[in-house]
Amino acid sequence: MSEPLLHSCAPRRLYVQTFGCQMNEYDSLQVQRQLAALGYQPVEEMNRADLIFLNTCSVRGKAEQKVHSFLGRLRRLKEANPALRIIVGGCVAQQLGQKLLDRFEYLDLVVGTRAVNSIGQLLQQVEESGRRGAFLHDDGNCGPVFQPQEILPQPGITAPVTIMQGCNNHCAYCIVPAVRGAERSRRPGEILEEIRLLELSGVREVLLLGQNVNSYGRGLEEPIDFAGLLRRIVAETRVARIRFTTSHPKDLTEDLMNCFAELGPLCKHLHLPVQAGSDTILARMNRRYTAGEYREKVARLRRICPQIALTSDIIVGFPGETEEDFGKTMELIEDIRFDNLFSFRYSDRPNTRASGFADKVDGQAAARRLVELQGRQAAITLEKNLAETGSLREVLVEGPSKASHGQITGRTSQNRIVNFEGPVSATGKILPVRIVAAYLHSLKGTVSSE
Ligand code: 5AD
Ligand code: SF4
Repeated sequence: MSEPLLHSCAPRRLYVQTFGCQMNEYDSLQVQRQLAALGYQPVEEMNRADLIFLNTCSVRGKAEQKVHSFLGRLRRLKEANPALRIIVGGCVAQQLGQKLLDRFEYLDLVVGTRAVNSIGQLLQQVEESGRRGAFLHDDGNCGPVFQPQEILPQPGITAPVTIMQGCNNHCAYCIVPAVRGAERSRRPGEILEEIRLLELSGVREVLLLGQNVNSYGRGLEEPIDFAGLLRRIVAETRVARIRFTTSHPKDLTEDLMNCFAELGPLCKHLHLPVQAGSDTILARMNRRYTAGEYREKVARLRRICPQIALTSDIIVGFPGETEEDFGKTMELIEDIRFDNLFSFRYSDRPNTRASGFADKVDGQAAARRLVELQGRQAAITLEKNLAETGSLREVLVEGPSKASHGQITGRTSQNRIVNFEGPVSATGKILPVRIVAAYLHSLKGTVSSE
């Protein structure tokens, strides 16, 4: 049992470590907001913290292992400072709950993916009672799904905005529905209000987040879909850029495709996870589209908005994937030529349908396929970046470049990183930049006076 935290007027120091996706980044910001109200200020060094919040990811086995090894390292800190509070949130917290408290006896609090919205209250409860606890949602009911927003004093140029939580799709490999619950959309009025507040604090670009934003609006009282939400954001706010992630191909409508051509602030980039190129594998994954349907949608989208950049996710080595199936994935990436790709080796996740499939692919074969896929995609990505050379792009400046000393950095509408000479005071501005060189992960440019 840890010692009760002494109440004092001195600010308490909060260290936040986030694993996983942008959803988690957003949740970590929410946690910082709530804990700021209790007097916690963020610090950069974990060793100086009074409270450590660890936001976890369980989407793949590797992500979960990282969490366990990080937690293991915290034992030493707790021994040196018994007043240190440690809270674990996110998907691993939701999945393991009490088991985490049992395994790591120095944890104070485990908060599930929805209980995280009440973290301030839960922490106070722990402090008052001196009792450790795990707070999870069982079928989605633990505290408010979306909490009222207060904006951090200094958000960056880009801010995430959650528009929905959970997922109803039940892809055979995916743990998300189990840990994030059923899909729920946030009311448009609340989303618009949050964006307006972010604008007031200097945010120029919003990243709309949801497991499947294309099904936004289902179950809301007022009839609205995702395209409708995008149109309202453009009409009712002055935000310079809008991005969103992530989309399910089966729910990508023609109306949404038209938004890319119609709405100036909507960035010309779509992340559209395909997962595999073989229809047999797609069916076993329960993706509910064929590779042909995916290709058709991409062709239609490119006709509507020729400058659109496309990125995707692929899993190799899904149970039952033969060399021939994998060949179809290679064919698909050759045909589509994604601008970028995130690819993963299949990993068994507890309680998913695929974890019960008998015909698991040999680890070495899956690793080899991943290397082959990533090698080919790197060449395509580089070719596509090189094709940018000479073009004039609008770049939203995000601040000083971490990679190139003395330069500033930003992104094109297509989500390519550009580094170039310029004053840090240009942060938040959209500048015309001529692309002069291209690499695998970024472009180099010069500000154009044309
Ligand atoms: N194994 C490997 N990759 C997975 N993903 C999700 N679940 C698994 C799993 N069990 C990948 C998918 C998804 C991305 C976020 O993570 O490609 O789109
Ligand atoms: Fe990880 Fe998925 Fe949970 Fe995000 S939603 S933290 S990617 S398991």
